[in-house]
Amino acid sequence: MKALVTYYTQTGNTGKVAKAIYEAISIEKVLIPIAELKDQGGYDIVFVGFPVHAHSVPAEAETFIKGLPKDQRVAFFSTHGSMRGGHLPKQAFEHALGVAAKNKVLGHFGCRGKVDPNIIEALINKPAHKAWAEEAQGAERHPDNHDLADAREFAQGIIAAL
Ligand SMILES: Cc1cc2nc3c(=O)[nH]c(=O)nc-3n(C[C@H](O)[C@H](O)[C@H](O)COP(=O)(O)O)c2cc1C
Repeated sequence: MKALVTYYTQTGNTGKVAKAIYEAISIEKVLIPIAELKDQGGYDIVFVGFPVHAHSVPAEAETFIKGLPKDQRVAFFSTHGSMRGGHLPKQAFEHALGVAAKNKVLGHFGCRGKVDPNIIEALINKPAHKAWAEEAQGAERHPDNHDLADAREFAQGIIAAL
């Protein structure tokens, strides 16, 4: 049994979660960013991580998911500025599920990730984005140790279910 943990990250948050997931996996495993991946076949499970962008999946991750072999077992993980459990990050997972329609999605995990202060500054005075920008400020210390422990537990559960 072999697992691939691959991810897209701009500021490192999703990379931290990827590392925690990788460390928790008890079978043969590979950790590599999507951009460096040459061969995506031959894995029993592929963990795919991405930051939520505009309530959805960034193109880099979406293109990768679309290229996965049919019936590939997949687990998603993401980081986002919004609170955990809110409907906006859920929307991104729903989008990922649609893109992965030909795959077997075993689960998904999400936690908060610090948002680039330039983005918050650009949005906090715009009426349409103010509420989100204020909420996103609260992600400053994430992913924290609690988030990473939850990510490890998630990974162990996915491996146990194979
Ligand atoms: C262009 C852009 C769009 C974003 N859109 C959202 C969003 O819609 N919802 C959200 O909760 N966070 C959003 N974020 C915040 C990121 O998802 C969050 O900071 C994430 O942890 C960044 O991960 P990374 O460090 O792996 O790149 C956005 C960030 C960027 C740069």
